[in-house]
Amino acid sequence: MIVAVFNQAGGVGKTSLTRDLGFELHERGFKVLLVDGDAQGTLGAFFGEAPHERTASEMFWHEVCSAESNGPPVVHRSKFGPDLGLANRNLNADEISLTQQQDPARFLGVTEDLRRAYDVVLVDCPPKISEITVQILFGADAMLIPVQTEAKSVLSFSEVQIEVGKTQRRRRNMRLEPIRILGVVPTLYNQRLVLHRHHLQEIETKLCTALGYPTLPPIRDYIAVSEAGTHAKPLKSYAPKCPVIQDVAAVADALWGTTRSRFQEVANG
Ligand SMILES: Nc1ncnc2c1ncn2[C@@H]1O[C@H](COP(=O)(O)OP(=O)(O)OP(=O)(O)O)[C@@H](O)[C@H]1O
Ligand SMILES: [Mg+2]
Repeated sequence: MIVAVFNQAGGVGKTSLTRDLGFELHERGFKVLLVDGDAQGTLGAFFGEAPHERTASEMFWHEVCSAESNGPPVVHRSKFGPDLGLANRNLNADEISLTQQQDPARFLGVTEDLRRAYDVVLVDCPPKISEITVQILFGADAMLIPVQTEAKSVLSFSEVQIEVGKTQRRRRNMRLEPIRILGVVPTLYNQRLVLHRHHLQEIETKLCTALGYPTLPPIRDYIAVSEAGTHAKPLKSYAPKCPVIQDVAAVADALWGTTRSRFQEVANG
């Protein structure tokens, strides 16, 4: 299953969630690929891969976007377990090359191989609607939407809805199944704050119930999540006792069950 971790708003916890959910699923025995769809290269950096010191041809999107080649995308074995598809600033040039080709199905073209090789592919989207975002939303089977428990993020959810609508229309035109909304993950949640509890409720009722999207367990706000980034480790490896690990595990339980064999039972019907 290919899952786009999507919200065009910046800083809502997309990359941190991709890192920690990916690591959690790997620990449960899933075959996991984490793809960075952002030229900032944060996901690779969070795994200690120094993407900005690497060449364009080592990047996941290079083969996908290149006009000349049709090779498979490059993936790296991370020292923490999940495979990684890296991005760095070269993604901007790759994206221009993609726009010039006007081929909406480049990522879609490699997704069958990815589905065969991995149980779960999480694609960390950039905080904007770019050509790559459109490609990701074509190729993905499902979408996971982190929303910060803050007014700004809740208010800008209408923008997410607009993009979901556009995605479904594009997919219909391509005769693809609609993208499945796995759910909204409330992020950076501090349960001691009345304001955050208010926004959590708003996410559950005004956004999710109204739209028929599942609300997934919230991810609490703990400084160890940021520190893990600084130390270039998944949270569970950096701070195994941080309560956010339970939050991430609860999201994994809700989406895929507790073991890979259970997941496969469900996937195989
Ligand atoms: N649960 C959390 N607790 C504390 N800090 C967090 C948590 N999740 C994310 N952060 C911090 O918030 C900031 C934004 O997180 P992150 O980079 O994951 O968001 P993003 O949506 O991927 O951002 P961008 O839109 O720039 O790609 C980072 O500094 C990160 O360390
Ligand atoms: Mg990010």
